[in-house]
Amino acid sequence: MEVNIAGTLLKLLQGDIVEQDVEAIVNAANTGLWGGSGVDGAIHRAGGPAIAAECRRIREEQGGCPTGRAVITSGGFLKARYVIHTVGPIWHGGRQGEDELLASAYRSSLQLARERGIKSLAFPSISTGAYRFPVERAAGIAMATVKDFLTTNPGTFSEVRFVLFSRPVLVAYEQALAEVLAS
Ligand code: APR
Repeated sequence: MEVNIAGTLLKLLQGDIVEQDVEAIVNAANTGLWGGSGVDGAIHRAGGPAIAAECRRIREEQGGCPTGRAVITSGGFLKARYVIHTVGPIWHGGRQGEDELLASAYRSSLQLARERGIKSLAFPSISTGAYRFPVERAAGIAMATVKDFLTTNPGTFSEVRFVLFSRPVLVAYEQALAEVLAS
């Protein structure tokens, strides 16, 4: 699915985030920037040791990355020149600020990309794997947050892509985008 929002192409597709030919891919990281499984593991495996070395430097300088914020490293061996590492919330039932923290993870990543002059970026479905955030709810927050950002920052990006790992997750994002566009 593809739509144009205020001059940015917003694309939803099924695929692997590490293979994307965009300027920056977003990692679903943890607060210590330690590397892990899921998206994080795939990015560190494909990007090589330069990414972990830069994560270590960030950890030493600023103690990692708080939940809802984002930091940037190079992309190592990836096609993408940069990796934006953001930390989504761990799902604890929905009453511990998870919705706002997830929106903040998307906003912080977009803001950081904008500051660096990045024109194209790809997101995974943050928090919906190991962190167990319910996917339909996460998709609604992701689509609403990205739509708001693109509308208030027209022309900032040429393309924002969501790369969803499975068909059901893609469908959840497509439904969420359709609802956000209709509202
Ligand atoms: N490309 C795209 N999506 C992927 C890929 C991939 N290569 N691998 C996994 N996914 C999907 C998962 O299926 C899930 O839908 O990304 C979504 C997010 O899952 P996680 O990677 O587990 O991210 P998250 O839920 O945010 O958990 C973050 O997991 O790996 C650790 O260090 C990481 O502690 C952090 C936590």
